[in-house]
Amino acid sequence: MPLPVLGVFDSGLGGLSVLREIRRALPGVPLAYVADQAHVPYGARPLAEVRGFAEGITRYLQAQGAPVVVVACHTASAAALAALRQNPELAGLRVVGMEPAVKPAVEVTRTGVVGVLATPATFQGELYAAVVERFAQGVTVIQQVCPGLVQQIEAGRLDTPDTEAMLRGWVAPLLARGIDALVLGCTHYPFVIPLLQKICGLGVRVIDPAPAVARQAARMWAAVGADRPSAPAAALDYATSGDPTTFAAALPALGLPPGAVRSLRWQGGALIASTIEPPQS
Ligand code: DGL
Repeated sequence: MPLPVLGVFDSGLGGLSVLREIRRALPGVPLAYVADQAHVPYGARPLAEVRGFAEGITRYLQAQGAPVVVVACHTASAAALAALRQNPELAGLRVVGMEPAVKPAVEVTRTGVVGVLATPATFQGELYAAVVERFAQGVTVIQQVCPGLVQQIEAGRLDTPDTEAMLRGWVAPLLARGIDALVLGCTHYPFVIPLLQKICGLGVRVIDPAPAVARQAARMWAAVGADRPSAPAAALDYATSGDPTTFAAALPALGLPPGAVRSLRWQGGALIASTIEPPQS
């Protein structure tokens, strides 16, 4: 049996905003991260297609020895969280997902108007409808999609004039309608919090759900009894179905340590590890 690792995945780099919080919550726990960059972005794809990707990646992470998998992607959570939890092949696996952070936004708003930035697939999912129905009674929730933003972040354009102009175009109408809380409903978006906060000013609370999800992951990790000590130096296993060199080069700007990056490829709905690139110095 492989040693237990905590598995985390996303369509691309976005889930690293969750991974860095999990590292803080569970120092020393071995982590395995999968970026499905062969298919990024997920956000405009049909939910059924994204569900297939999420199932393939989850099976891969389980085979790597993960008793807990964090779906660090709102789009994949919208598409697949319920299916993953009910899949008999994944029986015994604990699956943590991303839920749009409407509840904390409703708790802090004084204007009674909150904005949510997310992908089209996330807004189509039942999970989003359920949190709005459950937590946002009496509050106006304004949805905004951000086409092209995931690609900007994948390309490392975190603080460029074109990214800022795109964000202004989406956020200015929300500000005009009086939002004082802005929910980041896509795990890529926390990487542009400095720009968003500059555009919104300090009167708007920008809400990143990653710390709360990391706490939930830590509870699950303790619940499966897997919290054995390990060597922190060997604790981070990155993998991508895209280009490992590009992935490795993106890590420092996103606040993650360098490391070896496995190359994965899809074969008939299954993810297969091929090679491992040495860490970049
Ligand atoms: N980071 C993802 C999310 O949370 C995926 C976005 C995408 O691939 O379109 O939704």
